[in-house]
Amino acid sequence: MSSAEKAASILPKLEPEDLRVLQAVELGMADFEYVPLDHIIKYANLNPHEVEFRIGELNKKDLLYGQPGPYRGYILNYAGYDCLALNALVKADALEALGRPLGVGKEADVYEALTPDGSRVAVKFHRLGRTSFRETRRKRGYVADRRHVSWLYQSRLAAEREFEALRRVHSAGVSVPEPLHRNRHMLVMSYIDGYNLADVDSLDDPEGFLDDILRNVGLALSAGVIHTDLSEFNIVVQKDGEVLLIDWPQFVSRDHPNAEAILRRDLHNVLRYFKRKFGVERSLDEALTQVKGGA
Ligand SMILES: Nc1ncnc2c1ncn2[C@@H]1O[C@H](COP(=O)(O)OP(=O)(O)OP(=O)(O)O)[C@@H](O)[C@H]1O
Ligand SMILES: [Mg+2]
Repeated sequence: MSSAEKAASILPKLEPEDLRVLQAVELGMADFEYVPLDHIIKYANLNPHEVEFRIGELNKKDLLYGQPGPYRGYILNYAGYDCLALNALVKADALEALGRPLGVGKEADVYEALTPDGSRVAVKFHRLGRTSFRETRRKRGYVADRRHVSWLYQSRLAAEREFEALRRVHSAGVSVPEPLHRNRHMLVMSYIDGYNLADVDSLDDPEGFLDDILRNVGLALSAGVIHTDLSEFNIVVQKDGEVLLIDWPQFVSRDHPNAEAILRRDLHNVLRYFKRKFGVERSLDEALTQVKGGA
């Protein structure tokens, strides 16, 4: 069972005091590598015996870890953090139930979910702690040089960045999932029925589909946003044949010093794929002109 599935199945059994203890550990993680018990007691504002008891139970449920050795301290794991985010979104009436996985990978888990009014949405849990910190910092330039940067902070930042990018490009008319809510490392967006371009064997009109991609890249650029990870894996062919661009946490803004090179690399990846898979020939300069013509 994934951590999100575990969190969704445990959440209904948690009491408000359990959530207060989890939240106290979360709060302490900004300052401590392992949050000492007395701090958890202070932040949770519950009596010490109660906190000890709850911690034991939460530990058994595998929502937090204890530090071995003489200094007692605790940290959340992903399932614990997922519980806090899910709980907040349920309280805000943004979510009702978690559904089947749509894509579970290295840096994010995406699930189908239901809202209280019965509509289907997609939720994305960002997970940046699965690669080493050095690796993540190299790949994701936006992790500020903080002394204590945890997976928790990085994952939340990725969700914030993606929400921000989606908000900007969605209101500029780019074909992307509509951003609906965000809490911690978790993003709620409209559910889109379709296939990843990488899994599609043929397109009715590959030239026209490429034009649509470039038009959307141009619209994003006019909103000041460059994707930076554009490829057949982050382009969806919707059931009605429309283009959809997904996966925006690593975007850069148009005034980034390497904006031009990054945009070229995005386009290069797409053009290379269209050439190899669909035999479509389009030069980088031509594609750039198309993109900038729209921007
Ligand atoms: N709004 C959505 N509606 C339906 N399916 C979605 C939606 N967003 C993402 N998906 C599915 O989830 C998969 C992963 O999403 P996304 O590309 O945003 O995450 P990712 O960061 O690439 O994850 P990883 O790095 O783990 O592969 C997508 O390839 C797509 O199949
Ligand atoms: Mg992706």
